Amino acid sequence: MIKDTKRPRKTIQSFVRRSSKLTPGQRNGINRLWPLYGVEVPDRFIDLDKLFIKNQPNVIEVGFGSGDSLLDMAINNPNKNFIGVEVYEAGIGRLINEAHKLQITNLKVVRFDAVELLKYHITDNSFETFQLFFPDPWHKKKHHKRRIVDSAFLNLISKKVKNNGTIHIATDWEDYAQNIMESMECHSNFKNALGAHIYSPRPKMRPMTKFERRGQSLGHGVWDLVFINKKQD
Ligand SMILES: C[S@@+](CC[C@H](N)C(=O)[O-])C[C@H]1O[C@@H](n2cnc3c(N)ncnc32)[C@H](O)[C@@H]1O
Repeated sequence: MIKDTKRPRKTIQSFVRRSSKLTPGQRNGINRLWPLYGVEVPDRFIDLDKLFIKNQPNVIEVGFGSGDSLLDMAINNPNKNFIGVEVYEAGIGRLINEAHKLQITNLKVVRFDAVELLKYHITDNSFETFQLFFPDPWHKKKHHKRRIVDSAFLNLISKKVKNNGTIHIATDWEDYAQNIMESMECHSNFKNALGAHIYSPRPKMRPMTKFERRGQSLGHGVWDLVFINKKQD
């Protein structure tokens, strides 16, 4: 636990810790491969320059779930470093097992609440790209306060992404998409890459995710939002 007396009491979290049982393979992956792929969060900031073999643009993905799409992106973009943040242990075990099988070297995993991680352990201007694919929709109105994207979160992302970096969010919940579009267009630092109020066609570089597939089977649409971080300061 980080000892910082100035840190405010815990706020509402955007996730529930799923108690799903790990398969022996996932457990083994975490125990054996964590030193290769896992990032221990220090009391202060993570030194991103020391994580990877190559010094190249950093991409962060928050809430990668089972990790299949993050793995695909790491394979298809060897000229970028990928940092996945998740709290779901089975997904973490699965991802690092698969990454090891394929000898991937441009992928690391942080097991932590992404909001806390960004606030307290990541220096400003760390990432070229921020990705958030199919965040928990918390679709009941009484639960909207648990949605990860709100104005405080957008301020945080803007700080951590470099000037002219990209923010890519996708959701299959229309009201959440509208809400994100409105909040991002109101934000002084974000510029819609496609023009005012325009959702992006599904970018080819975004692999299909598990939750996207689940949404499709339920007849949901998909809304991709791509914004550029134009820092004012
Ligand atoms: C609906 S799932 C989507 C998973 C994956 N992106 C996909 O599309 O299949 C959302 C994921 O975000 C994770 N998550 C939610 N809030 C988080 C947070 N604050 N920090 C880290 N992970 C979080 C959850 O554990 C969950 O696995």
